[in-house]
Amino acid sequence: MKRSLIDITEFSVEEIDQLLKTACDISENPKKYSEVCRGKKLATLFFEPSTRTRLSFEAAMLELGGNVIGFSDAGTSSASKGESIADTAKMISCYADIMAMRHPKEGAPYVASLNASIPVINAGDGGHCHPTQTLADLLTIYRELGRLENLTVGFCGDLKYGRTVHSLLSALARYKNIKIVLIAPEELKLPKYVKYEVLDKYNMEYVETTSLEEAMPQLDVLYMTRIQRERFDSYDEYERLKDSYILTAEKLETAKQEMRILHPLPRVNEISVKVDEDPRAAYFRQALNGKLMRMALIMKLLKEAEEGVPAHEVTDVVTEEFVCDNPRCITSTEQEIVHSFKCVNRENGIYRCVYCEAKKVKN
Ligand code: NCD
Repeated sequence: MKRSLIDITEFSVEEIDQLLKTACDISENPKKYSEVCRGKKLATLFFEPSTRTRLSFEAAMLELGGNVIGFSDAGTSSASKGESIADTAKMISCYADIMAMRHPKEGAPYVASLNASIPVINAGDGGHCHPTQTLADLLTIYRELGRLENLTVGFCGDLKYGRTVHSLLSALARYKNIKIVLIAPEELKLPKYVKYEVLDKYNMEYVETTSLEEAMPQLDVLYMTRIQRERFDSYDEYERLKDSYILTAEKLETAKQEMRILHPLPRVNEISVKVDEDPRAAYFRQALNGKLMRMALIMKLLKEAEEGVPAHEVTDVVTEEFVCDNPRCITSTEQEIVHSFKCVNRENGIYRCVYCEAKKVKN
């Protein structure tokens, strides 16, 4: 098992700072990096739709002088014949030096990392995590505002299923004096596990509101998100909530001049195209930053693989004690998987599935 990136918290703040520095240097001196990955192969395994993430991974590897193999449609891979993630990961390890995986089931890239002999990068697992988008987001805030501390950050839209929100909050929790404003309709509020285990754990100051207008004047960063249609069980519910928030030029009138608008993209209807002309709109620059950070990340993980840096270890794990019953978890489909739970609160006997964060309480 090689060191992978499954959840952003596996990287220390110092490591993230180093990646930011490398990304800035790549931006200034791209030629210096154009041969670094000569002879290396990246496999992109996308079991779910993607434009930016997959293409930015591929562009990143090509700009480092490496090569890319992979698929972008699960229907053309052996998954459609019933192949397990574990087998796919073992097999890809024979063909590539590093892999990036996106999958609709929570925990799928983690399962891949447990079975691969090359580094695995989580490129989005269901509504769970999206650590490389977080790297892009952090670089964007850093380049646009010059700091990752002393910020009021508003998250707006689908905070329930928006995996980019969950990952960015976990990362920001470790920077100083970050205030969070959670702007969402009642039905799409931030999941409780993120509140308890990120916001409360790190004593982050946060408020919840349904009003974007009210929140606007205090924000340094406004992180807009798409309502995640593909994660809804009911189409009617999606239809009812899809236009909950639409950012317009008028609504920006009360915002700070230095505020920056981020969005992981794709945008559907939540930011009017008129806003694109506003210098505060940073979302297309954010997409470029995604490529730079993925270049820095690929270099880091390949170097660590060569040096034999061990994989991140999940500690305090029990097996066979609980069974995960979350239908969105990879345990619901992967054959012969060991259900494992990590203890997150010994006093109250609280355990979480290591793949998806579903909670169990020991009586
Ligand atoms: C995001 C994702 O896939 O979670 N997109 C991306 O990777 N840039 C956001 C989204 O799909 O809404």
